[in-house]
Amino acid sequence: MELPLGVLGIYVALVVWVVLLIRGLRTRSFGPFFALGIALLLFLNGRYFIEGIPASIAFFIGIYDVGNNLGLADSETAGGLATCVDNACTVWGDRYTNHTSWGVAFHERFLNGPQLRRNLLYGHIGFNSIAFILMHLQLLRPGTGSNGGRHRLLGRLTFGAVTIGTVCAVWLASEHSSVSEYGGAAAMWGFWSMSAFVYATASMTAVTARRRDYRSHRTWSIRFAGSMWGSFWLFRAMLLVLDPLFRNSESVAILACIWLSAPLGIAIAEFFRRRYDGTQTVDSKPSEVSAATV
Ligand code: HEM
Repeated sequence: MELPLGVLGIYVALVVWVVLLIRGLRTRSFGPFFALGIALLLFLNGRYFIEGIPASIAFFIGIYDVGNNLGLADSETAGGLATCVDNACTVWGDRYTNHTSWGVAFHERFLNGPQLRRNLLYGHIGFNSIAFILMHLQLLRPGTGSNGGRHRLLGRLTFGAVTIGTVCAVWLASEHSSVSEYGGAAAMWGFWSMSAFVYATASMTAVTARRRDYRSHRTWSIRFAGSMWGSFWLFRAMLLVLDPLFRNSESVAILACIWLSAPLGIAIAEFFRRRYDGTQTVDSKPSEVSAATV
């Protein structure tokens, strides 16, 4: 059996990432943690545009196969696991034939689905990834001093990208009421709530910038970042733990991630903002902060 080196590489990167997170918590310096998060996101999401959708989904499911099959004998399975045609929904060859059911449905939806559905996924991944990266540039270089014009332009681009990425997500989710492996209507409403968390925080970031209320603008931009980290990274990290734990149920793990990841991301961002803001404040005077995000 050929080993999927890419998936093994992801596991190594995840271990390094946890070390960087612990180090960040101890030193209050999260730069390397954020940088690796962005690099991993580019590696995972960029492959959709290089390898195509079904192959990238198989890679994604391959990351979860190990945990989901942990402790199961070759002939054994669990209630929430399923098989896929020719075992094409994984990069593990014949090593794993049982996969999480949402994963099998996800692969099937895009292997045999209409082109419009694929285009929506490309739009969702492409524009949300652009927004994710731009958002970090914005936080790294606030609109102070001579940076104002660029900050404003990038802010508009970020807002435009997250708008298109979220519209694509809402559209994709509108099909989910018939996908029982995701949780049916509960998945549809969950993804819509996730979109609402992301878009509401993005909109508040824009509104406060327009009002030139820069203190609130900074607060909302951190909450927006939390929602984006939640809906992308926290979602996938939670799934890594919950999927094996609830492998006897078809959709408990995925539904928990769908409903909780974005609000949890915002809550974590807010927690750190409050905790670290005691030592760092941003004045809202326009003379000191000259540019808005939009
Ligand atoms: C507004 C919050 C979000 C919502 C509601 C959402 C929703 C969705 C939906 C519905 C799917 C496709 C499932 C299907 O139709 O079968 C999906 C997949 C995906 N989304 Fe999102 N998403 C959000 C945020 C993000 C963000 C911020 C990113 C990247 C920066 C992202 C990247 C992806 C990727 C890469 C996939 C494919 C699965 C994977 O390989 O990880 N999503 N998302």
